[in-house]
Amino acid sequence: MSIKTMKAIRFHDYGGPEQLILEDIPIPEPVAGEVLVKINTVAVNPWDWKFRSGKYKEGMQVKFPVIPGIEASGTVVMTGPGVTGFLSGQAVYGSMMASYAEYCVVSEQQLFLKPDPLSYEEAAAIPVASQTAWSSIIEIAGLRDNQRILIQGGAGSVGIFAIQIAKWKGAYVYTTGSTENLDFLRSQGADRVIDYKINRFESLVADVDVVLDTIGGETQERSWQVLRKGGILVSIVTPLSPDKGAKYGVRASYRNSGISKEGLIQIQNLVNDGTLRPVIRKILPLSEAGLAQAMSEKGHGRGKIILKV
Ligand SMILES: NC(=O)c1ccc[n+]([C@@H]2O[C@H](COP(=O)([O-])OP(=O)(O)OC[C@H]3O[C@@H](n4cnc5c(N)ncnc54)[C@H](OP(=O)(O)O)[C@@H]3O)[C@@H](O)[C@H]2O)c1
Repeated sequence: MSIKTMKAIRFHDYGGPEQLILEDIPIPEPVAGEVLVKINTVAVNPWDWKFRSGKYKEGMQVKFPVIPGIEASGTVVMTGPGVTGFLSGQAVYGSMMASYAEYCVVSEQQLFLKPDPLSYEEAAAIPVASQTAWSSIIEIAGLRDNQRILIQGGAGSVGIFAIQIAKWKGAYVYTTGSTENLDFLRSQGADRVIDYKINRFESLVADVDVVLDTIGGETQERSWQVLRKGGILVSIVTPLSPDKGAKYGVRASYRNSGISKEGLIQIQNLVNDGTLRPVIRKILPLSEAGLAQAMSEKGHGRGKIILKV
């Protein structure tokens, strides 16, 4: 390749959004099993600003400077030795670490071909949220048709996919959101939407089989009581107290990471046939990464913030 350097956002220490600096650095080279991707779009996740702020620094070995980013879309530039599934020029998306940059290397196992009808913006917004929703409500909770689920935070990136997946599964979906998102939540397929700014969900929902908690705090605390005996509360935000589960006669699970290979295939099929569709909240240039993370940190709004590279 003739170009040897690229623009990338990096932070050299933990701190606020001002730590994010646009720098010129060498383009990484793919080793065996890796693919070099020219990034078109990178999606912003709450993980990005939580990590940057130092929230996870205890027990984590981090080598600064760090390029943020955990999911993106782009085109294959070159492949490392042993890569058989991808060719230069193909449009791809997937979980991509260090993707707030013009180029990124990624294991071919993490990459998927971008379906034509999906824009690069949409594709970048799929991996983290769809996999989190799938593994939480299908693989951990085992949601079945005709069951009832309460999705806390339905307008969030994970919540949107959770609604779409639960409806595809044939479940009855309750979800919480703010006043301005109620019609949007209905448009995603939710059967009953609850304005969390006006109503207490526990006065309107009872005996559900599954609660997906994407909010934490007192929302999580108040969620135990709406489950039927033997139901399950899955949180993606904070670990749950087994004692609380025992007290209410329900199961409790914290989804941190991970998904089965079958899950990944199922998600691809649902993306390809249009069942799963991400929602983009805001598009900003890569140079506005600090603003994008500050917006994400507010914890409100509908769908994903993305950065065009
Ligand atoms: N464990 C894992 O594997 C994993 C994976 C991905 C994400 N996460 C975590 O899951 C959380 C959600 O992630 P995300 O990407 O979906 O975030 P997001 O896109 O920023 O969405 C957050 C949503 O929460 C809603 N909300 C805020 N307060 C609420 C309340 N009291 N009741 C109901 N809804 C409320 C907001 O909608 P309104 O505008 O309507 O308030 C917003 O749509 C984050 O903490 C993230 O770090 C964990």
